[in-house]
Parts: sequence; C-alpha cells; structure tokens
Amino acid sequence: MKLIPFTRDRISDLVQLATIHAGWSVAPQELEIDLQHPNFHGWLAVDVTEDGMECVVGSVTLICQQVDSWLGFVVVAIPFRRKGIAKLLVRTALAFLHKCVGLPTLCKLVASPMGAPLYAEFGFRSVCGIWHCVKSLKDSSFYRPVLGNTQCSNYDTQILCYRDDFRQDSLWHDFLWWDRKESGNDRSYFYDQFIKGSRSFLIGVYESFTIANLCISDDRKEEDGNPRLSAVAFVRWFDNAFIGPLYSKCHSSSVFCLYSIFQYLWHNRSSEIIECDMLCRADNRRLAILSETQFVPRSFARPHQLMLLYPTTIGLNRNDRIFQVNDLSDNCIALASYEW
Ligand SMILES: CC(C)(COP(=O)(O)OP(=O)(O)OC[C@H]1O[C@@H](n2cnc3c(N)ncnc32)[C@H](O)[C@@H]1OP(=O)(O)O)[C@@H](O)C(=O)NCCC(=O)NCCS
Repeated sequence: MKLIPFTRDRISDLVQLATIHAGWSVAPQELEIDLQHPNFHGWLAVDVTEDGMECVVGSVTLICQQVDSWLGFVVVAIPFRRKGIAKLLVRTALAFLHKCVGLPTLCKLVASPMGAPLYAEFGFRSVCGIWHCVKSLKDSSFYRPVLGNTQCSNYDTQILCYRDDFRQDSLWHDFLWWDRKESGNDRSYFYDQFIKGSRSFLIGVYESFTIANLCISDDRKEEDGNPRLSAVAFVRWFDNAFIGPLYSKCHSSSVFCLYSIFQYLWHNRSSEIIECDMLCRADNRRLAILSETQFVPRSFARPHQLMLLYPTTIGLNRNDRIFQVNDLSDNCIALASYEW
C-alpha cells in the first residue's frame, strides 16, 4: 500500500470509491473544480497487487481557505477497512497542515457516524449535528401555491443563472457579502466555477417594496447589507440538485425560498432528487423547516456531525474556543456537505 497525490487523472477512481464504498453521490465536475483551487490538496491510498496492478482503496482531501481548512472525502474501500488506512490518510493531511506555515489553523469537517470516532481520536470535537436530507420532485407535494399564500405574497424572488455579466448583478454581490459574513471565507472561486460550469443558480428572496419601506430603518440597512434581501441560497446542480448554503432572516422567507427552488427545478425538468444538509441545534426551527418542505433526513437515528480541530493549539484549552465559530449563526439554515 502506498500514498500518492490525488490528481486529475484519478477523478474517476475517487468517484468510484466514494460511490461504491460509501454510497455517496459525487459529481466528477465538482472534483474538477476542487482540483483547480490553488489551495487544494488530496491523497489516495493505492494497493499494488502482485502483478503490479494499482487499485485506489482510500482517499482524503483538504481545502485551505482564509480562516479554516476543510477535510473531506475520507473513504476506505470495504475490504481494506480497520487496517489503519483512514488513520494514515487523516494523519497525512493534518501533518501537511501543521507543516505549512501561513495556512489556516482551524480544521473543519462533516463526519458520518462511522467517521466520527476516528476524528475524535485526532482531537476533533463535535459542534452540532447535521441532517443529510433528500427530497424527490416526484412527490406530489413539491408544489404549494406559494403566490396564493398571503404571508408569502410579501416576497419577490430573483434567480441568477450563468450569463456573461453575472458578476455585475447586485444579487451576486449581496450573496458573497452574506456568505463571507457567515463563513469568514471568500468562497467566490467555488460559486463562480459552479455557476459557470453547470446549471447551478443563485436565488434571492426579497421583501416586497411596500413591506421593506415600512419596516426597515436606516440603522438596519447599515448592519444587514441589502435590507430587502430576506433569504438567499445557492443551488449546485449537476446530476442531483444540492441546496446550500441558504441564509435567511426569518422562517417564512426560508420556506418561501425552498419552495421557489422546487418550482424552478420542476419547471426546468431537473433531476428528481434534491439534497441539502441541515444544521441542527437545540431550537427546532430547522426541523420545522424540514417537515414543512418535506425533506426526509437520510438517517433519523444518527445525524452527521460538524467537527472542529485547532491543530496548532493542541494542549491549550480548545473547548473555550470551539463555540466561537461564526458559521453557526441562526441565519445559516442549510449548509452544503463538504468543503464549505
Ligand atoms: C470511516 C472509515 C473511513 C474508516 O476507515 P478505516 O480505514 O477502516 O479506519 P481505520 O482502520 O484507520 O480506523 C481508525 C480508527 O477509527 C475508528 N473506526 C474506524 N471504523 C470504525 C467503525 N466502523 N466503528 C467504530 N470505530 C471505527 C476506530 O477508532 C479505529 O481505530 P481502531 O481500529 O484502532 O479501533 C471507513 O469506515 C469508511 O470509508 N466508511 C464509509 C465512508 C465514511 O463514512 N467516511 C467518513 C466520512 S466523514
């Protein structure tokens, strides 16, 4: 067994590994985009058979951003499990982080119930649960007469898809502003690539002019960016559509945003499956959104976990700092599952 860097010619190996051995739906285009990021690093564990054939049996990826780095794609082929391969891969990625001065010192990941004990051994601590949710557009319930609903008629929507001047649109800037406020990172590279390379889109939900004029004081305008923007979501759309992140100022605009997405996907003959990862905290607001929009958590019994590690502060009292992360604000409803 040897470790090799993950490169473009190995994308299909990684997709196969993740699909067959972890049951994940992975779009090769997303890996293409990751690989072109200047701070992307990945390693593969390769088994070499007696006749010299190489077979990819494990993987890990790392994306370093301004304030944190994300660990992802930790998968080991079923016949090769419990031999320490995942431990070796994660250790390699973390050792790389330690070595590279100037890279962020906070490391995050979304752990499956299977992966959580492994990360805990490295000092990662869980900060909240995440439900991986799916919804089929075949459900007759995808459509609800949103515009007939009096509460929802307070909103207007805007959909921003790829066109040459999409970066000039104020929705694009308002979304990046909100995303940077919540995540601390400038993730425009990913959104830019997604929107250019697929049918991905951005959706903004605005308070109607009358409501906005009545309710929004000048102070709030300063603090909240565009005062009319009540919810915004990014939808990556390759084979399946994946919603996230979704930021909103209130419950009704999040629900309105989700139904507007369903309708748009349905009218555009999308794939049948819509996915999202829902952060769950003590309040039941997010779970209420799930049932209202009929998203079904894939595993009710054990959600995934958002886990954090401060690799360079091991030995200090990490627990004091763990909960200061800003991406858990109440405005963040749904979060994409990896590298975000
Ligand atoms: C999770 C996974 C990557 C572990 O791979 P692995 O190579 O078998 O892990 P290792 O042999 O390096 O095990 C390292 C440690 O993790 C823990 N661990 C691994 N698999 C475990 C399991 N099924 N149950 C409980 N603990 C487990 C153990 O602490 C283990 O140490 P030990 O063997 O000394 O007890 C593998 O089971 C897998 O690919 N699962 C499907 C995809 C997935 O869920 N990935 C994690 C995404 S975040």
